Parts: sequence; structure tokens; C-alpha cells
Amino acid sequence: MNLAILTSGGDAPGMNAAIRAFVRRGLADNHTTWGIPRGFEGLVRGEPEALTAASVANILMTGGTILKTSRFLDFHQPDVRAAALHALGQWGIDGLIVIGGNGSLSGAFELNRAGAPIIGIPASIDNDIALTEYSLGFDTAVNNIVASIDKIRDTASAHERIFVVQVMGNQSGTLAIAAGLACGAEAIMIPERASDYDEIADRLRATYARGKRHSFIVVAEGAGSAQTVAQEIAQRTGQEAKWVVLGHTQRGGPPTAHDRIMAALFANHAVDLLASGTHGVMVRAHAGSIDSIPLAAVIDAEREPPLDWQDLAEILAR
Ligand code: F6P
Repeated sequence: MNLAILTSGGDAPGMNAAIRAFVRRGLADNHTTWGIPRGFEGLVRGEPEALTAASVANILMTGGTILKTSRFLDFHQPDVRAAALHALGQWGIDGLIVIGGNGSLSGAFELNRAGAPIIGIPASIDNDIALTEYSLGFDTAVNNIVASIDKIRDTASAHERIFVVQVMGNQSGTLAIAAGLACGAEAIMIPERASDYDEIADRLRATYARGKRHSFIVVAEGAGSAQTVAQEIAQRTGQEAKWVVLGHTQRGGPPTAHDRIMAALFANHAVDLLASGTHGVMVRAHAGSIDSIPLAAVIDAEREPPLDWQDLAEILAR
């Protein structure tokens, strides 16, 4: 079969590991493997490139995506999707893997509905894709944040300061919660649950009274800006509060072993499914194994952040 792969939306560490696994596994089963550059945009404005075992050498350990990626808003238009479907037919592609987050999986769903044989692989540092317990990139991003906060902690401790650290998560607080729990943050602010500055300030004052001389607030970008949070907290506590935006440092760098392993397992399953003629599904991590679920179900559902982890983090930091 002619099998193709593309990466779409925000990049996530582990995308390259998934591309490598797709190619090596596909070639092992005598398929021809193709890469589509720049996500869905490449379907209408690009050309597929043949991917060989050698062309995916030494990418297992790199972040980003060798295929490049894009947020291609034109893909919302039915005529643009029709052009993409036409291109896939012209190129003789028998199966396409789309690696990406919620927006990309919606695009994959629409293109599949129009007739393209597609399998989705969940990838987003936000880990906010419904009906899968894991999305590629999350573990690396959490570890990137932990590494940064561990460094900031040294200076926070030396100066006895409050630090507000803004992490990614425009519409989701899962990344902030996991990082906050892993770093012992005193407070975590997320878009899905309102926070109260007075209550956070009370908590920080209480920990100060017990002898804690530095503290951390982790704020997901969708819950507010670190600068504003720092100002509000400094005003209420009378303590100095510094702020840091970690930005894209969270999304780059070598994928963790967990992301590399999950990438291999997801891509392996995706190749199996395409070879068996299955499409219109997303591979996923579920109850300790890898299986798949219709894209239609994924698009319709929402993934809740682990609010119990948020509560636990705040109890443990008292
Ligand atoms: O989808 C992942 C994500 O990292 C979000 O948390 C964030 O809001 C967004 O991507 C930022 O994307 P970009 O850097 O492409 O604007």
C-alpha cells in the first residue's frame, strides 16, 4: 500500500519518533511510505516526499517535526478539503496518518467523512484530547516545566520571593496541574475552574506564617497572564512576586522515553489499522493498552482536567 503521514497544528515532542516508527514499520511490511510537508496545507499546496529508513535516521531523539507543521485555517472550507481529497487520490495514497491535537483531529474527521482513508494519532502537549489517556508530547512538556521551575526555585529561595510561572494551555489546565503537582506549587490556576486571588493570597500568607519563605503559583495561559497574577498577589500579600512566562521552551527539546515509547506504540497500531482497511479512527491509550476509537466520538467529547490532582497539589504544598 501507499501510506502517508503528516503532522499538524502545534508541534509536540514525539512527533518525529512517530514518523520514524511509521516509516520503519511500514517498510517492514512492504508498504511504500510518504511524508506530506506542512500539515493539511501540504495536501493542497505541497507534494508528498518518499520516506525511507535512512530519511528517518537520528530523529527519534529530536523535538519538532521533520515534516514541518502548520495551523491551516483554510481547511475549514469544504472546497479546500475537496482539493485535499483530490490530491490524495491523484497521488494514489491508500492510507493517511494525521498526527496532531484537537483542531487537527477535527480536520482529519472532516476529510475522512469526505472519503479519505485516515487514522489519527493524538499529539498535544496540552493532553486535552478526549477519550485517550495520553497525547504525545505531554510528558516531555511536563518535564521541561519541572526542569525550569527547579532552576527558578534556587533563586526564589535565595531571595525569599513568590514566583508566578505561566505555562501553556490556552483552553486546558491539564499541563499546569501536572507540572504544579510535580513541582510542589502552592497554587495552580487553570481555565476550567475559577481561582480567587484573595483565597490564594490567604493561603500564601498562612504558609509564610508557618515559615515558608518562597512559593510558586503555576498559571495556565488560558487562566490569565503571569504578570497580572503576580501584581494581584503582591498587592494582597505585601510580598515581592516575580513572574516568568516559559513559552515555547516547554514545547521543544528531546522527547522523554515515555513519549518515544508511546509514539512507537501509536504508530505501530496505526499502520496495523490502515493495512487492515480500518479508517476514521484515532489510536489511543486506554486502560493500559493501545486501541482505537472513532474520530466522530473524539470530536464530540471533552476531556476534563484532573481536578483531584489540583486539589491534592494544593493540600501537599501547605
Ligand atoms: O496546542 C498546544 C499549545 O501549546 C497550546 O497550549 C498553546 O495555546 C498553543 O499551542 C500555542 O501555539 P502556537 O505557539 O503555535 O501559537
